Parts: sequence; structure tokens; C-alpha cells
Amino acid sequence: MSTVWEPDDSERLVSAEYTDDDLEIDRSLRPRRLEEYLGQTRVKENLAVLIEATKGRDEQLDHMLLSGPPGLGKTTLAGVIATELGVQMRTTSGPAIERAGDLAAILTNLDERDVLFIDEIHRLNRAVEEVLYPAMEDFKIDIVIGKGPAARSLRLDLPKFTLIGATTRTGLLTGPLRDRFGMAFRLEYYDPEELAAIVTRSAGILGVSITPDGAAEISRRGRGTPRLANRLLKRVRDYAQVRRDGVVSEDVAAEALAFFEVDHMGLDRMDIAILETLVEKFSGKPVGLNTLAAAVGEEPDTLEDVYEPYLLQLGFLMRTPKGRQATSRAYEHLGLASPADPAAQAGLF
Ligand SMILES: Nc1ncnc2c1ncn2[C@@H]1O[C@H](COP(=O)(O)OP(=O)(O)OP(=O)(O)O)[C@@H](O)[C@H]1O
Ligand SMILES: [Mg+2]
Repeated sequence: MSTVWEPDDSERLVSAEYTDDDLEIDRSLRPRRLEEYLGQTRVKENLAVLIEATKGRDEQLDHMLLSGPPGLGKTTLAGVIATELGVQMRTTSGPAIERAGDLAAILTNLDERDVLFIDEIHRLNRAVEEVLYPAMEDFKIDIVIGKGPAARSLRLDLPKFTLIGATTRTGLLTGPLRDRFGMAFRLEYYDPEELAAIVTRSAGILGVSITPDGAAEISRRGRGTPRLANRLLKRVRDYAQVRRDGVVSEDVAAEALAFFEVDHMGLDRMDIAILETLVEKFSGKPVGLNTLAAAVGEEPDTLEDVYEPYLLQLGFLMRTPKGRQATSRAYEHLGLASPADPAAQAGLF
């Protein structure tokens, strides 16, 4: 019998970041073909044309940058593109490539038209990035042989490959690197209908009985994020199996997610703490990122990368020149009377 996860402070169920728990989910649920990749319609339409054109010309695909918050399907999409092109994908990440020589070794081992996927590409170091420029532009790298006065530089030809870079923060990419991508796509949060389709597909693969209302309930609380919606589905499945008859209906999903302290909009304890801090401790006035982070006991970077994007997306939080501020929607969500107009208080209008 499976165990039901109990809420505690060590794990955040609604974190969009990758956890060990996602490994198994990823292996079984990750779409392989474009038609299984649900949502992101505009990106998919573009890609379908690009892929067909590239195959028709018998060429490698242009280098591509994928950006967007964690868990929206960047890695998945890179894999789908490679599969659709009928080529291999090699995967690495910015922090994993420590020296220029590491990158040279990866590049020289690629086959013609392969996809090289570099995750967290904004975290490449300078020396490595400089090797990447001529590799992307001319499919050549310069390597230095020997040391001191006897050192010689040698230019090597590389196979014509496709670089797909992924980043959660486009703003952190250097200009020269960004310029070398022929295309850039930004993944957006999924709307509830798209997420419900993903949950339904996942339930089918996992053999979970779920009603359409059950899928809708999970997707409403899934923060527009497939990784998270899939994780919630797994938790709700456990709950349904242990505490109910195993069927994930709307009631069971709502009950299970309340039990896991994920509210009806997908906010958890930490999100609520952030909003309450802004509203109560700082009386609705704008608060600087570092001050806010200290007040809720979280790292400023985590606050900015993990918590803020969804609160901004919901319109619960705004960034003003003077700091972060809760909106009247946030007051409403907390069940508090909203001050006349928080934006006016900030002196914005
Ligand atoms: N469009 C989609 N359709 C169906 N399932 C999806 C889709 N996008 C993502 N998923 C599911 O969500 C999971 C997370 O996606 P993925 O690992 O590709 O996100 P990511 O954007 O690379 O995240 P990170 O920034 O943390 O690397 C996948 O394992 C897959 O099961
Ligand atoms: Mg990824």
C-alpha cells in the first residue's frame, strides 16, 4: 500500500523545481512526440513548420533558445524536437561544463545534425562561452596544444550540430551568446484546460481513475505548471487510494489538496506567508526583495525565481520601483478588506 505524504517543512509540494520524486514521473510521463506535447500551441505550430522545413532541406536545425519558468517543459521540448528530427540528443548543463576542454570534448563527439542540449545555459562560464561562439557560428573550435612558447593553436571542424539552450532567466544570458541563437521561444504558464489535458493524459499512463472534474480540480491548483500538476496527481492518487475508493473525483482532489495545504489557487503556506508579510507586517507598503526574503526566512534568489513568478502571474504581487507590494487581489484572496488602492499608496499613479 502506498503511503500518503504528510505536509512538513522539509519539502514543498508546489515547488516547480525538480526533485527526486520527479525522476520516476519524468521517465514515464514525458512526452516524446510533438503531438503528445500538449499546450504551448503557438510554439508548437512554429516548431512543426521549422522541423518539416529543416528535414525537407536535409539540413541541421538552427540553434534555438528555450526560456521560461521551471517545470514548463523546456527539457521535454528539446527531446521532442530531436525525436521529430530523427537525430540524437546529448544533454549537459551550464554548471556541468567546467573547462573549455570539457566542451571541446562534447562538441567533437557529436554526429552531424545532432542536438546538443545545454540546460541552465546562463550559468556557463566565460572561458567555455568563448569556445561556444565559433562553434555555433562556423562549426569550428580552436584548441591549444602544448604549453608555453611551444603552444600551438589548432582549428578543428565540427559536425553541423544544433544547440538547444534552456534557461529560466533570459536576462542573465550575455548579449553575444543570445545573438548567436537563430531562434528563441518562451514557454508560458499553461491555462487550466491545457493542464487538465496533461493531467488526464498522465492519469491514463499511470492507470489512475480520474473524472474530468477531478482533473480540472488538480489543474486549477497546478500553478500552470505540468511538472507540478503531475506531482499533485500522484499525491492525490495516493490519498484517494488510502483514504477513499481510489477514484480521483473533484471532491477527493479538493479534499486531498486541502490536506496537503495547497489552496484552491495552488498557493501553499510559503506563498501565503509572503502575501501576509506584505499585507500585515509591512502594512501593504512596498518592500525590498532582501527585506521580504529575510522576513519570510527564504533566500532572495529563491523568492525571485520560484515564488514570485506565479504570484506575479496571478496578479497578487507587483514589482514597483520601491519594492514588492501586494495587490487588492491578494487582499481578497486572504479574505481581508483591501486598502483603497495599493498602487496609489505606492505613489505609482
Ligand atoms: N507540454 C507538455 N505536455 C505534457 N507534459 C508535459 C509538457 N511539458 C512538460 N510536461 C511534463 O512536465 C515535466 C517537466 O517538464 P520539463 O522537465 O521539460 O521542464 P523544464 O522546463 O525543463 O524544467 P526546468 O527548468 O526545471 O529544467 C515533464 O517530465 C513532463 O512530464
Ligand atoms: Mg529542464
